Amino acid sequence: MNIGIDRLSFYTSNYYVDLKTLAEARSVDPDKYYIGIGQEKMGIPPPDEDVVTLAASAAYPLMRDGELDGVELLLFATESGIDQSKAAGIYVHGLLEMSPRCRTVELKQACYSGTAALQLAIGFVARNPGKKALVISSDIARYELGSPGEATQGCGAVAMLVSANPRLVAIEPESGYYTEDVMDFWRPNYRSEALVDGKYSTMVYIHALLESWKQYAELTDRTLTDFDRFCYHIPFTKMAEKAHQKLSRKLKSPIEKAEIAGLLEGSLRYSRITGNCYAGSMYVGLASLLDTDGEDLTNKRIGLYSYGSGCVGEFFSGVVQPGYREVLYADQHRNLLENRTELTYQQYEDIFNYGVPVDGGEYVFPQYKTGPFRFSGISQHKREYESLVD
Ligand code: COA
Repeated sequence: MNIGIDRLSFYTSNYYVDLKTLAEARSVDPDKYYIGIGQEKMGIPPPDEDVVTLAASAAYPLMRDGELDGVELLLFATESGIDQSKAAGIYVHGLLEMSPRCRTVELKQACYSGTAALQLAIGFVARNPGKKALVISSDIARYELGSPGEATQGCGAVAMLVSANPRLVAIEPESGYYTEDVMDFWRPNYRSEALVDGKYSTMVYIHALLESWKQYAELTDRTLTDFDRFCYHIPFTKMAEKAHQKLSRKLKSPIEKAEIAGLLEGSLRYSRITGNCYAGSMYVGLASLLDTDGEDLTNKRIGLYSYGSGCVGEFFSGVVQPGYREVLYADQHRNLLENRTELTYQQYEDIFNYGVPVDGGEYVFPQYKTGPFRFSGISQHKREYESLVD
């Protein structure tokens, strides 16, 4: 029995900063961002978006299409948690009017937790083949103003329906995974911005890739030529390209730039203009690949590498299913990405500095352009959400 991703829906905020604007403000050559790290725009969440509204808006098309009926497991992956106790997924469960007969929990391991959630959901379906699970990875990548990580900020969420006989991508059972206790990126509970040893994090990312690949290759006897496309965790698109180059070199099959583009480009398009979505980032890449790759990917094998600082890496694979194009949300994704509003530098800084109040008072947030749900205010330390759909 095949198990895997049956539907895949992506959402990001309706606002972005062009990295040319940031480059000007930081007196940096824009090519450092456009070419050096391979990023053009970063998605910025307005004050009335948070990981809950990003997630609920990502999953809304599934709700609208009746795909959430009978879902009994909701796994919410994030490293932008809004509460130390309550799972953010429970707000999402409520906004999406899901059945009370549902297990809902939040998972954390930096940018890796979406993959942990996907693998756990696959285990759930293996035990209950008639049942479905909803996995949502939702994050806001936030670094200090003026820091090296600033240009890699972004936001977004990916909702994936996991089932038997999936219509999009069957996930293959073999997997290589690797854990090591390192401090390359972390965010203590008292901080709203991450701390990062950026260069070190790129090295650990590669090390975990090589270790994960080694296990995967031993389990499957596959080589790089057994794959038609690759999707990497994408903190910035250049990182994914470099990772593939390093893996190819390590396996003594060095690869030309043009060849890398053929294998990876489809997966990089959305991330280049939304920025890092942390736990959702590799799945934004998968959505981008399935939506935009010009070739018919039916029966093609995709190599998937997920990485979360701290750190855990996992290399696994999936096979694209016949008829996949009929169940994509490609038009909706294109619409969203083409109709976002550009922010000036000052608007960006104002939004960046608009913190969520922590004094337990009564607050109503200004209404920006959002998806079907918004974070409308806060009252007595309780977050309030509003549905904009009937
Ligand atoms: N034109 C073209 N390229 C340029 C350039 C220009 N004018 N100026 C700089 N570059 C290139 C650099 O040569 C470098 O390329 P290289 O890595 O191939 O050598 C690249 O742009 C980045 O420049 P660098 O000076 O190394 O950037 P930085 O140190 O300011 O920031 C990170 C890079 C990755 C450290 C930073 O973005 C970061 O901390 N990111 C967050 C953490 C992260 O995403 N980690 C990834 C693993 S999860």
